[in-house]
Amino acid sequence: MPSAQSAAERISTLRSEIENHNYRYYVLDEPSIPDAEYDRLFQELKALEAEHPELVSPDSPTQRVGGAALAAFGQVRHELPMLSLGNAFEEQQLLDFDRRVREGLDLPGGDLFDAGIAVDYSCEPKLDGLAVSLLYEEGVLARGATRGDGTTGEDITANVRTIRNIPLKLQGKGWPRVLEVRGEIYMPKAGFEALNARQLEAGGKTFANPRNAAAGSLRQLDPRITAARPLELCVYGVGRFEGELPETHVAVLHALKSWGLPISRELRTATGVAECLDYYRDIGTRRDALPYEIDGVVFKVDALASQRALGFRAREPRWAIAFKFPAREELTELLGVEFQVGRTGALTPVARLKPVQVAGVTVANATLHNMDEVARLGVMIGDTVIVRRAGDVIPQILGVVAERRPPGAQPVHIPETCPVCGSRVERTQLLRRSKGRQTLSEGAIYRCVGRLFCRAQLKQAIIHFVSRRAMDIEGLGDKIVDQLVEAGLVSSPADLYCLTFEQVRALEGFGDVSAGNLIAAIEASRRPSLARFIYALGIPDVGEETAKLLAKALGSLARLQVALPEVLTYLPDVGAEVAHEIHEFFSDAHNRSVIEQLQARILIEEEGALHPDYAAIATLADLIDKLHIPYVARTGAQRLADRFGSLAAIIDADWLDLRQVERLNERAAQSVREFFADSQNAARARELEAQLHEFGMHWQSERRVAQGLPLSGQSWVLTGTLESMPRDDAKARLEALGAKVAGSVSAKTTAVVAGPGAGSKLAKAQSLGVQLLDEAQFLARLAEWESASRE
Ligand code: IVH
Repeated sequence: MPSAQSAAERISTLRSEIENHNYRYYVLDEPSIPDAEYDRLFQELKALEAEHPELVSPDSPTQRVGGAALAAFGQVRHELPMLSLGNAFEEQQLLDFDRRVREGLDLPGGDLFDAGIAVDYSCEPKLDGLAVSLLYEEGVLARGATRGDGTTGEDITANVRTIRNIPLKLQGKGWPRVLEVRGEIYMPKAGFEALNARQLEAGGKTFANPRNAAAGSLRQLDPRITAARPLELCVYGVGRFEGELPETHVAVLHALKSWGLPISRELRTATGVAECLDYYRDIGTRRDALPYEIDGVVFKVDALASQRALGFRAREPRWAIAFKFPAREELTELLGVEFQVGRTGALTPVARLKPVQVAGVTVANATLHNMDEVARLGVMIGDTVIVRRAGDVIPQILGVVAERRPPGAQPVHIPETCPVCGSRVERTQLLRRSKGRQTLSEGAIYRCVGRLFCRAQLKQAIIHFVSRRAMDIEGLGDKIVDQLVEAGLVSSPADLYCLTFEQVRALEGFGDVSAGNLIAAIEASRRPSLARFIYALGIPDVGEETAKLLAKALGSLARLQVALPEVLTYLPDVGAEVAHEIHEFFSDAHNRSVIEQLQARILIEEEGALHPDYAAIATLADLIDKLHIPYVARTGAQRLADRFGSLAAIIDADWLDLRQVERLNERAAQSVREFFADSQNAARARELEAQLHEFGMHWQSERRVAQGLPLSGQSWVLTGTLESMPRDDAKARLEALGAKVAGSVSAKTTAVVAGPGAGSKLAKAQSLGVQLLDEAQFLARLAEWESASRE
């Protein structure tokens, strides 16, 4: 162990190294070391501080979350009030602002084309978050406060300390002894989406927009909650200071940046109002692509002497203005809800709205997604709703203004029959598993059972079937599909291959050439690859990637058609739900007959053989696990496998044999006996085993898979802090189980363990849909695998 003296030196070196890396990462956006190296430094510092608690100081990078939850926020008085900005909504209002500025500064007039003596303005995006004040004393973050009413705010020091891009200590030299900076705390769009997804999964409340999410996250009495939220700071000005600062606003911001404070990457200077307008238009075109929400841009007279000369009017500076973008959220009335029938028969509730202008476009419809969303919003017909439209995205309903609900508001009901074909509407079932038991529960999706008899489904199915990534029939657009279906020429995708030149020629809008082209395009699609064909079938939840995987792994349509759902779940990325959908699809007699017709008319290019990568991937324990025997979870399955070595032996086992399985409790043993006493279960288990063999997916009776250990071939990523063990230990334990522990997240990553403070890797994992585990889940799994792989 290093002596206290050298530990102190090492701690100080580590802290400044880490601070420097934070600065490069968060402020300059130019990290110089890989995340894994950063994590290593951080862990080393944490370990040293744990050994020498007397050396821990509040400005250490490890001390972002400390202390307990508060009972209430303290109050902070702003010595210099935090002001608001005047707004411009139209160009003319910006020109008027510029004219007032020049008059105020006694500069000769001009116009858009001749600026006269032009004023230099700083240009910044107007971030949509919360204004905060951060006070640095002797370069150390001493206090964080909300704007409040501008004069008095709330003390949120503990919360701002958890925000990763807020330096706890200033970098470099030359900062004023006392420096109060002001800026916006916001939640980037990606973090917002991920947070809402997590909240939804946990059954918690979701946020209507990133601004609300940022506000809700910052005003938490427990800083640990704030720490887990993806907040960021952008500094846009200075409040009180004691010391020297440069003489223009832009130079001040650059100085702040050099001291480690994050400023906007979009900061520019404009000479004259015409350049301000250019900036506004440029940012406007990029608004959707920016990683955060903005509601306008802010122009400020750049010279601080001019700012002082202009002064304030009421609570707004005369030297700055916000030029707002058109609002993306508006209020309107929900007139009714209609149900649209999609390709898989799913009924989507669509809101019919009293037409309203949102961000320059008239909106009369918005999607309500599904009935769970209707329930979540608690929306009723007649309600005043908040509609949002961003970019090309379909308008959405964000919420209801409860106070404005009229007396006669009507609940939204799902129809009992399909609005297009009159068939029965069924609620979909979801597969869930708990205590080793698989159950069906009610899903949020309702489906018309009419399949291809339903014209809505038929049209969508054909549109999908002919699309570019599916059968790729060129020139067969939505309108023609509509014509073919309405004319009764096509009642399944297979009918496309029976169309004649004369039939097409007779349709409205077709001539000899166009009819010939369409027939030729259909002809050209007669030899699809198996992957294209599977994708073209439009099996619910089977996208292009899954279709490719199924084609590659199974090699033939025949195999896919008979595959048991449990066997499908052996394939990577095929979960129980997808397997269930595939199985259902091929169990349907009508689907089978359409496929038969198709097979008679086209030639599917198949590999035929099972891909070797997917052979020999099963273990007996997996197989038992997939039977979903009540009270027998993964570890129980492993114990049974270890003891009996074959499925037949387990099926035939009597009570005494079962009670002798080490560490298998009585309830599980009883359950195994009851399960196999049911001859259907036993037959199903045998069928499953037989199919695995037939497909070449042989399981081994050995305790470990042929390639080695339980996690062989898996790639794991650890991010954030682990409370229960040093990261190196977690890494070593995963490696002992056969996993690789990688420093960065990719689509190949098996799982990510995310502790508090996880940042970009967590976001990346979420965006890639990689499995995420928190520390408790991770520990539970680790224990399971370790006990499974022990003698
Ligand atoms: S300057 C006296 N710059 O807009 C000048 N404000 O309506 C005070 N805001 O409370 C603000 N981005 O929360 C300024 N680049 C920016 C801004 C910005 C967002 C917010 C801020 C302020 C509100 C004023």
